[in-house]
Parts: sequence; structure tokens; C-alpha cells
Amino acid sequence: MQFYPPEYYDDARNGFTAIKTVPLASAMGAEILNVDVANITDEQFTQVEKALYHYKMIFFRNQQNMTIDDQEALTLRFGDFGTDAYTDGIEGHPNVQRLIKEASTVVDWIFGDGWHTDSPFMEQPPAVSMLQSLDIPPYGGDTWWSNTELAYNLLSEKMKDVIADLRVHMSAAWVLSNVNKGKPKLNDLSVGEIELTMNQKKMVEGWFHPLVRTHPVTGNKSLFCDTSYSMGIEGMTQDESRPLLDFLGEWATREDFNCRLRWEPHMLVIWDNRQCLHKAFNDYDGYRREMIRTIVNGETPV
Ligand code: SIN
Repeated sequence: MQFYPPEYYDDARNGFTAIKTVPLASAMGAEILNVDVANITDEQFTQVEKALYHYKMIFFRNQQNMTIDDQEALTLRFGDFGTDAYTDGIEGHPNVQRLIKEASTVVDWIFGDGWHTDSPFMEQPPAVSMLQSLDIPPYGGDTWWSNTELAYNLLSEKMKDVIADLRVHMSAAWVLSNVNKGKPKLNDLSVGEIELTMNQKKMVEGWFHPLVRTHPVTGNKSLFCDTSYSMGIEGMTQDESRPLLDFLGEWATREDFNCRLRWEPHMLVIWDNRQCLHKAFNDYDGYRREMIRTIVNGETPV
């Protein structure tokens, strides 16, 4: 089976002349070659942005030169900084989050656990997210992504009709119950080393969004549904909505819609939350992992 025709991956056809792309899986993801992110040119950036919307997730290796300032500058090329619902950012860089799990830390739940799109319980969830790897375990700690545009396209026409006008209730209720598990009091929040500073009430109230969203740049439709934050459907009972959301959540993360990244230090990954889901792995106890994260503010999904 091929999801896209061979020409889909053709740099010349896609107008990628200042960058080279190497697809990671047939469903999504690509490595970008020939770019020093700290010194990216305007022509390269235009093509990198196009490659992001094309492949949903892109990554660059060997970006040793890249500083936090460089990551902030690249983030701002995509749009304003997004507000992170979970953390406050680091000293001197309020829009930069440091994701650390120390070698000695053993937790049931890590930041990014479970298939999700970033903070969909907000009215304007982040459009784009970026992770720079500083310290990586010798094995484990991979990240998975899944292509939700492909997942939408491959539904039957009948199912597309059924879900066309539905609105999904996105809420952090289930995720926060995992974060809070075993914690003595509600405002004592952390996930391993990561201190969480957040408005839990607002996150649990969440927001209603279209179950099928249209990408503001490509005009393509994607399923906007995951197994972490999709709690119900407007106008339906839980008995009615749960089986549908369970099906769509499983469908959206089918293995053949995925790509999986084995991290190396000094990689930069960028993904488009409007077209894919992602998930971190909690399988590297005994080793340290440190990432630098930034997000781009998104639009209200339509
Ligand atoms: C995230 O969900 O933003 C973090 C993913 C990861 O650490 O692999």
C-alpha cells in the first residue's frame, strides 16, 4: 500500500531547491538536510515551512550551533509565541520550556505521555511545536507522531458525513487526574523535574472544537481528536459519544499513519499540531533526557 504517489516525496516537484528532504515514513515525517538552523536564510525558511505542512513533522540533525535564542527566533518566524498551559518557562526565556527527566527519576506518567495534540483544551491551541534535544538516553525516549489528515482522508464517505458538523469537548480532566495521582494536594504539581504552574479549573472546563478541522494554510481537513483530551461530543451523552471517540482516537493513531523518531543530541524537531498527534515514551528510567521546547500560537480551529 502507498498512501501518497511517489511524486509526493519529490523535492523538485515540491519546489524544495534550497533544502533537501528525506522522508522518514511513508505516512509522514521528513529529515531536512542542508540547513544550519541558526543561520537559516529566508529562502530556506519559506521552503522549511512548506515542508512542515507537507510532511506534518520535520527534523534537522547536528544543530550543535543552535542556542535558545536561535530557537526563539525560529519560532517567531512561524508566528507569536503560544501560551503554554502547563509551565511558566525558564529564567530569562518565559516562552521556552525545559523538559527534563533525570536518571534517578521514576514516574508513572511523563510530560507528553499518551497520544495527544498540544493543549487542545484552549480556545487557541498551539499551531506548531518545536523540540530541541540536548541530552538523550542511549535507548528509549523516542517520540511518535501520527498523521491526522491521512486518518481523516481514509475514513469512509459515510463516516465523514456523520462527523462533519460535530464538536468535540477537549478537556484536561483525564490528564490532570494522572498528574495529580498520589499527590498530597492539588496545587503540588510536578511531572518528575518539571514544575507545572497551571490553571487546572480552566483546563478541565476546556473548549469545544470542530471534530474535523480545516488547515488555515493548506485548506486540508484533519481529524481533531485524540485519546488524551477528547472527552465528549456536543449534544451527545457519554454513552453515545464515547464509542465514537474511542474509534476515532484509535483510528487516528493507526500504526501505518505513524512515524517514530530515535532522537540524537542536537536535533531540532518541528511539528504541526493541526495535522498530527504525538506521544512521548516513558521507557528510559536510569538515563537522563533533556529537551528545549517552544510553541507557536494557533488560531481558533475551524
Ligand atoms: C511533548 O508532548 O511536547 C513532548 C514530547 C517528547 O518529549 O517526546
